[in-house]
Amino acid sequence: MAVLTEEINRRRTFAIISHPDAGKTTLTEKLLLFGGAIHIAGAVKSNKIKKTATSDWMEIEKQRGISVATSVMGFNYKDYKINILDTPGHQDFAEDTYRTLTAVDSVIIVVDVAKGVEMQTRKLMEVCRMRNTPVIIFVNKLDREGRDPFEILDELESELKIAVRPLSWPINIGAKFKGVYNIYEHSLDLFTPSKQTISSRVEIDDVNDPRIDENVGETDAAKLREDLELIEGVYPEFDVQEYLAGKLAPVFFGSALNMFGVKELLDCFVEIAPTPRPVNAQEREINPEEENFSGFVFKIHANMDPNHRSCIAFVKVCSGKFERNANYKHVRSGKMMRFAAPTAFMAQKKNIVDEAYPGDIVGIPDTGNFKIGDTLTSGEELHFKGLPSFSPEMFKYIENTDPMKSKQLDKGIQQLMDEGVAQLFINQFNGRKLIGTVGQLQFEVIQYRLLHEYGAQCRWEPLSLYKACWIESDDAEALAAFKKRKHQFMAVDRDGRDVFLADSNYVLQMAQSDFPKIKFHFSSEF
Ligand code: G4P
Repeated sequence: MAVLTEEINRRRTFAIISHPDAGKTTLTEKLLLFGGAIHIAGAVKSNKIKKTATSDWMEIEKQRGISVATSVMGFNYKDYKINILDTPGHQDFAEDTYRTLTAVDSVIIVVDVAKGVEMQTRKLMEVCRMRNTPVIIFVNKLDREGRDPFEILDELESELKIAVRPLSWPINIGAKFKGVYNIYEHSLDLFTPSKQTISSRVEIDDVNDPRIDENVGETDAAKLREDLELIEGVYPEFDVQEYLAGKLAPVFFGSALNMFGVKELLDCFVEIAPTPRPVNAQEREINPEEENFSGFVFKIHANMDPNHRSCIAFVKVCSGKFERNANYKHVRSGKMMRFAAPTAFMAQKKNIVDEAYPGDIVGIPDTGNFKIGDTLTSGEELHFKGLPSFSPEMFKYIENTDPMKSKQLDKGIQQLMDEGVAQLFINQFNGRKLIGTVGQLQFEVIQYRLLHEYGAQCRWEPLSLYKACWIESDDAEALAAFKKRKHQFMAVDRDGRDVFLADSNYVLQMAQSDFPKIKFHFSSEF
């Protein structure tokens, strides 16, 4: 087999997503332990911004520093090369998470058995559904009291709007938790709480094996058989094609903290999870096996050091082989560029790499050339799609408070918007600049960074709006009529596209019913 094909086939690039506190960091760490990428538990610092720290900006900066190191974690497991892409836990950084999801081929969702499906999981699943991303669900914290597993399955199905199929099944939960029956491999894993080692595994022939009774007792063995019979009756056989199509989510149960059920998850994951998938550019579909290199920037991480206004642009390799010092075309500017110090993240260390393959993420030091969504190629004019901005829901006018520094302010705003920190609109009625975000924290981030990185000062003026949405119409007259009627609420985005600023849900609904010829879009890609 050609080297390229071989390298592609052994890659698994995914993200773990969850509502904060469900156990994403813990699970990530355990997976890295399996890969030998780290040797002791506790080595991966949580990059989540604790809920209590929402107004503590310095704390956030520290956390951001940690998250650079853990942005991409690559490791080898068996013959596979696994890339885990980290996503910020705090909901105010949801937009970052959405973009990271464009760079993965599949997702593992962690759900807390006591809490079930929480708000952020639901939102992130919507993004996965939009992209048909294959999803595996890990129900965590079985060592704690929680909900009935059948109830959890029903909730997963109805709340996440995806068919589910358990591939492992718990024997009791909480204090009485005894282990997990592995439906995928027909084995029994017994629970021994431990932060370091793998739990014990009992080899069995099938569900009727008396060794189950010997190990968990007759009552629990009988209950297990009853449950499994019910599962077989209710859920169709696991179909890997349905999973790959993003229509069916296999479900595993376990306890990440105790390293329980994690190996089962990982072993099944490497077997069934997709290899790097074809990616859509505006021009055509790009197949990973194409010889020519192509990739896109899905994330830009600013340097923590204010004296060094450099960033790292994270490029997902989509096709061909990426090589250090080769000449690549930066499609937006039309310039050819060479990268002397691209980095990759293996075993928690950032190293300069000479080459990378589809599915890999390369970090490229940048001084402001890159913008989120930019494409790099061996020469072809390609524009990758699928990095939408979502309708922001929080808005403020941005005002310059130091007239001597207006140039710095403009430059700072422009670069922060290129990084995807927030969205800039110009109100067409009064000509003022308007920043839209998905979370309150972004305003603090912007103000702080403008001052520390660009020496510019700004002031926020609150503005009460419900949503900004992009509008278009095939009927030029209808569009003109709409813009005339709503002239006080019209803005343009950075690409000059029309945006309607709705000040309430009611106003938005009325506008939709009064102007049937206008299409309202809630993400920038349409
Ligand atoms: P997150 O990244 O999804 O936000 O969650 P994280 O892994 O940080 O886990 C949140 C809390 O849940 C942590 O406790 C962690 O130890 C605990 N946890 C994770 N998996 C399990 C599990 O299987 N069983 C039990 N009982 N607890 C689990 P913490 O007290 O918030 O943090 P820490 O001080 O222990 O790190």
